[in-house]
Amino acid sequence: LSNPKIPNEDPLVRMDREHFIHPYTDFPSFKESGSQIITKSKGLYVHDHMGGKYLDAIAGLWCVNIGHGRQEMADTIAEQVLEMQYYNPFGASSNVPAAKLSHKLAQISPKSLNHVFYSSGGSTANDVAVRLIHYYFNLKKQPNKKQIISRIDGYHGATYVAASLTGIHGTKDGFDTLGGFIHHVSAANMYRRPDGMSESAYCDFLVDEFENRILQLGPQNVAAFIAEPIMGAGGVLVAPKNYHPRMHAICKKYDMLYVSDEVVTAFGRLGEMMASKEVFDVEPDIICLAKGISSGYIPLGATMISDEIYDVISQPQSEGGALTMGFTYSGHAVACAAALKNIEIMETENLCEHVRKVGPYFMEKLGQLVDLPIVGDVRGSHLMAGIELVSNQRTKEAFDFRLNVSDRVFKYAREDGVIVRPVGNSIILSPPLILENTHCDKIADTLRSAISRVSEELQSDKAA
Ligand SMILES: Cc1ncc(COP(=O)(O)O)c(C=O)c1O
Repeated sequence: LSNPKIPNEDPLVRMDREHFIHPYTDFPSFKESGSQIITKSKGLYVHDHMGGKYLDAIAGLWCVNIGHGRQEMADTIAEQVLEMQYYNPFGASSNVPAAKLSHKLAQISPKSLNHVFYSSGGSTANDVAVRLIHYYFNLKKQPNKKQIISRIDGYHGATYVAASLTGIHGTKDGFDTLGGFIHHVSAANMYRRPDGMSESAYCDFLVDEFENRILQLGPQNVAAFIAEPIMGAGGVLVAPKNYHPRMHAICKKYDMLYVSDEVVTAFGRLGEMMASKEVFDVEPDIICLAKGISSGYIPLGATMISDEIYDVISQPQSEGGALTMGFTYSGHAVACAAALKNIEIMETENLCEHVRKVGPYFMEKLGQLVDLPIVGDVRGSHLMAGIELVSNQRTKEAFDFRLNVSDRVFKYAREDGVIVRPVGNSIILSPPLILENTHCDKIADTLRSAISRVSEELQSDKAA
């Protein structure tokens, strides 16, 4: 049964349409059709205000890892509000959940990452990383080390620095970016690597390009490299084997810091609490966390830094000087309590182990979609997947964006009760970690039917 459509004249839709500026909105179509307003959520499902029920195959926005609407989270948050909801974190003033969470994060991070700076999301976690990197090299009397290398198609957020680190061209339209200290090298895009190039030759190419860029900028000027372990919003791009360790080795060769943006990949999505070391064999100097840290119950960002960086930045810059950077909500008591409970749930329910079991099945089921004529590539790992739609499977020719192919698939899938995420010409999936094989079947079957419908429409448009 299809879920009901949302009437345009509904007062809720009107309030939303007239006053809420939604991120990433195509205003003409939004003004015409308004929002789908989500009113209830439980487990793997969300409901809209018209009574429709949907399997949330994107976990909110890569974040609701433990699933929606959990009583334990509600109780923890309520208890913390009543106990002590907020107090100033500046200077030598702290709170119980923040102290405990800091200890826990140090335990689950790679060995040398024992210190955390809190903010309220992924963008701010990345901004903090960049500010701390510059501060660190200033204190080390290497003030020229300012340049940061990021990647085309990387996504790092929406604040000015994070948006400038971001390398997705479509996010830049009409906006300015910070000039000067941010540079981009190629994405590690296996599907679109030059025809006939082997995986290892492609890896060589990417590593050489990176090293050449450093040499061009002057290693004495280059401070850091930032990368997602698997690129998320850029299309779920899995790098060639050994890419991350080799990029890390280049960073070490030139006295640069390696920043792993694990805003999406941490907290179980790839079957580990953090992916850098466990999955990709890299021990970064900085790991940026958000999203799954609190499963979206309350906003929280965290920037984990190594002992080495901490030892430097914990020296005052001048006599009596302090680390003059902080947010009102750094280490917010309720957010930290929520994160602690979230991690406890992940541990008691063995969610990482569950992902290691269900993840390969999810990828296998989605992988079967490559027999559809407009599916070019199905990629990802565990519960992070991307399906790239192409107008020609053999030549990999991309669809004209104006055809809105992925959006059409999204709409048909939603009609059939599954929410997926259209990004460019790809469909992105990142379900809550609690899904079972039957849900994988439902997502794959729904996508098969939605993609087939779009494919048939395109065929008949061509014929007409
Ligand atoms: C890898 C990555 N980094 C950073 C961000 C930004 O996080 P936020 O939207 O919480 O600021 C995102 C958001 O999708 C992300 O995917």
